[in-house]
Amino acid sequence: AKILWNNEIINEEEVKIGYEDRGYQFGDGIYEVIKIYNSNVFTAEEHIDRLYASADKIQLVIPYTKDVMHKMIHDLIETNEVENGQIYLQVTRGTSPRQHNFPTPEVESVLTAYTKETSRPLTQLENGVKACFVEDIRWLRCDIKSLNLLGNVLAKQEAISKDCYEAIQHRGEIITEGSSSNVYGIKDGVLYTHPVNNLILNGITRKVILDCCAEVGLEVVEEAFTKEQALAMDEMIMSSTSTEVMPIISIDGQHIGNGKRGEWTVKLQQAFEQKIP
Ligand code: PDD
Repeated sequence: AKILWNNEIINEEEVKIGYEDRGYQFGDGIYEVIKIYNSNVFTAEEHIDRLYASADKIQLVIPYTKDVMHKMIHDLIETNEVENGQIYLQVTRGTSPRQHNFPTPEVESVLTAYTKETSRPLTQLENGVKACFVEDIRWLRCDIKSLNLLGNVLAKQEAISKDCYEAIQHRGEIITEGSSSNVYGIKDGVLYTHPVNNLILNGITRKVILDCCAEVGLEVVEEAFTKEQALAMDEMIMSSTSTEVMPIISIDGQHIGNGKRGEWTVKLQQAFEQKIP
């Protein structure tokens, strides 16, 4: 498969990343993961908008217009003949001798993107997954889709080591989001989820799910809830580009509801499927 390297689509072997790339040394960059369904880029506009928003928030200049970015992504998917899968795209602040402050003189940012074929996690979508609570030790700008993912990496690893699929992070008693997903609870016909602010990533799938809620008649309250409230929810779900509307059936070994995928969850999954191109 070919790689998008800055504005060229080339063979993997031809990609050259400097050992002083700031993404490599500082995690100084941003990224997106975008889903491809039946050769269509899902919610492309939202992802590209968020990429540029993340760039702005760290004063990183992407030297292409959004239109050019869309075109490059489409060209890459076409070249690689991806039917169902995803595209990973990152932009770093470029390569220059290591110093913490921004490069002087200025250098161009470095863009890389690749595609891969993946299939939908159908078994987990039906059976649900196990989760565990992990203290949220990340920084206070989780709204930026930054390459700095150490907090997320450690949280996910803790989950995996406990035979769980996802870590539900919490600051004190308050649940924020998963290590690579947003988190929701459903109780008495109301869906609760952390409001969009600096403590969570504004998930594109979250936005799609809130649209689905309106369609299926599930009331939405964008309010944070506690670990204790989470355990008492009728249903819990997590969401991301790759995991869609994923049922959480237990947390720290305690069943949520009856320990099976819930009825609202099924409705949301059906509404979500309707949107798959
Ligand atoms: N993760 N919160 C965090 C911390 C995330 O890393 C992600 C996505 C989400 C969900 O966002 P979206 O619905 O836009 O994918 C929420 C991606 C998929 C990843 O890092 O692989």
